[in-house]
Amino acid sequence: MRDVPWDRTGKCKGETPAIALIDPKYAANVAKVLRLASCFGMEQVWFTGRRIEADLRDQSRLPREERMKGYKDVKLIQDDRLFDRFDDGVVPVAVEVRDSSESLADFWHPEDALYVFGPEDGSIPKVLLRHCHRFIVIPTRHCLNLATAVSVVCWDRQLKEHLAGKTATTPGEWENRGYE
Ligand SMILES: C[S@@+](CC[C@H](N)C(=O)[O-])C[C@H]1O[C@@H](n2cnc3c(N)ncnc32)[C@H](O)[C@@H]1O
Repeated sequence: MRDVPWDRTGKCKGETPAIALIDPKYAANVAKVLRLASCFGMEQVWFTGRRIEADLRDQSRLPREERMKGYKDVKLIQDDRLFDRFDDGVVPVAVEVRDSSESLADFWHPEDALYVFGPEDGSIPKVLLRHCHRFIVIPTRHCLNLATAVSVVCWDRQLKEHLAGKTATTPGEWENRGYE
């Protein structure tokens, strides 16, 4: 692929809150996560691995969202050493189905969270779980689609900020539409 719509210089500095996807397989999911980050006010989406490049090559034409041209307020960054790019204050939160994880229902989100998600066809590898400080599970009967899991966590963060009296966004405020 000649020109990819993400930074892969290895020189980006982590800014929280942010989302990290470990070795995602489908470009469409990464594009959806980019959109979610924009919707929920997160400025960086990081990912490891190169599988989405192969996925993009296999597509003859992608729908607009999947072309990942919009949502320019979010930076998409490929970096296999992404944990090294954040300051010490970062709180990596592994979002994964594990026996010992805290339930998202009772979780109060750290301000400087980096939410880490596993790939569509696997889970966060042990070697990367060691970088994580908190471990949460979304209490569902089955595993969610990757982008859906990101959506639930982003919404939960926003809802709990609202419950704590901190929410800035109001309905109709986005895209300068005003109230309808
Ligand atoms: C589609 S799931 C991975 C598939 C799963 N390991 C399997 O094959 O059954 C992709 C990622 O979404 C997140 N995820 C999905 N459902 C989740 C849940 N209920 N709780 C926590 N994380 C979840 C995790 O980060 C997971 O690695």
